[in-house]
Amino acid sequence: MSGRTIVTIAVLSLFTLETGCVPPPRATGQLESSGGAVQVSGIDPLFLPPSPDTIPGDQRGDAIRMGYLMVVETQEYGKRYVGNALNCTNCHLDGGVNPNTASFVGISVLYPEYRARAGRKMSLADRINECFERSMNGEALPPESTKLSAIVAYIEWLSQNVPPGSTVPWRGIPRLTSTHPPDPAKGKNVFAVKCAFCHGTDGQGTMAAPPLWGERSYTIGAGMARVGVAASFIKANMPRGWGWTVTDDEAFDAAAFINSQPRPDFPGKVHDWPKGGKPADVPY
Ligand code: HEC
Ligand code: HEC
Repeated sequence: MSGRTIVTIAVLSLFTLETGCVPPPRATGQLESSGGAVQVSGIDPLFLPPSPDTIPGDQRGDAIRMGYLMVVETQEYGKRYVGNALNCTNCHLDGGVNPNTASFVGISVLYPEYRARAGRKMSLADRINECFERSMNGEALPPESTKLSAIVAYIEWLSQNVPPGSTVPWRGIPRLTSTHPPDPAKGKNVFAVKCAFCHGTDGQGTMAAPPLWGERSYTIGAGMARVGVAASFIKANMPRGWGWTVTDDEAFDAAAFINSQPRPDFPGKVHDWPKGGKPADVPY
């Protein structure tokens, strides 16, 4: 668990959070205040997402709010650029505020950054577009897009209490490592017992949860298509509201099963890792 302490969902009430099976994880479209700074215990003291009360009442505030909507209601506000049934918040849980799953808090201080997959330096906007293309099976937003700069503004606002130069220790997904060979056949059983009642027996999603494979899911070029990444996400966050309850082997087996199912191709994959360094669990 990479030295990180377990953080419960309950403390993360920055926005109206909904966990469990019903209702579906749709945002209300409104930022709601928790009435003060958000307290998160057991994680780095710099993990300080600001209170929505501090969103400025000017144009920048409008951009921050639009960025939030793009993240939680991507299907609606980012429709043109999305090719599947997901919203950013389905993986970057709680609008990117949850520290267990590639949180947006603090990350703007890390960009621009060299990325081995692309073999070049990337801006935060470039990185957002990678998720549009790969995780959302969609299209990159044009550099001048106000919706793209809105997402950047939202992430910068979430990062404002993290000083430049910080390494953002909570970055990414708490990484699960295992010597257990992931077994999709066992994963099929884990899926039936612990996942299907929300994600559907066919994995195509329900009112309660998004699809896990098929045409409406993430592409094979997405980070989540790597078994190690999906296993880590599942361990820390699934079943939704009951993170850290499946065993490590169950997380790996379920990840292997889900990622052995059909999903959209990502033709741009031929350009990935041009200078080498491709992780072993990349499925291409
Ligand atoms: C299917 C799951 C999924 C969806 C949907 C998704 N992402 Fe991601 N995203 C990931 C994963 C996995 C990572 C890499 C995490 C890691 O490196 O540990 C990531 C990384 C990122 C990063 C870089 C984080 C960092 O630490 O530098 C940004 C920014 C980002 N995503 C934005 C978005 C936005 C905006 C959307 C919606 C348009 C989106 N993502 C949709 C899974 C997803
Ligand atoms: C209680 C309902 C529930 C159960 C059970 C559940 N999930 Fe989820 N899952 C969700 C919800 C809801 C989301 C989206 C989270 C959000 O938007 O806040 C999600 C998101 C995901 C995602 C990322 C988004 C996507 O659709 O690709 C994966 C992967 C995932 N779940 C895998 C699993 C696995 C594997 C299991 C079984 C171990 C599981 N889930 C059990 C509700 C559930």
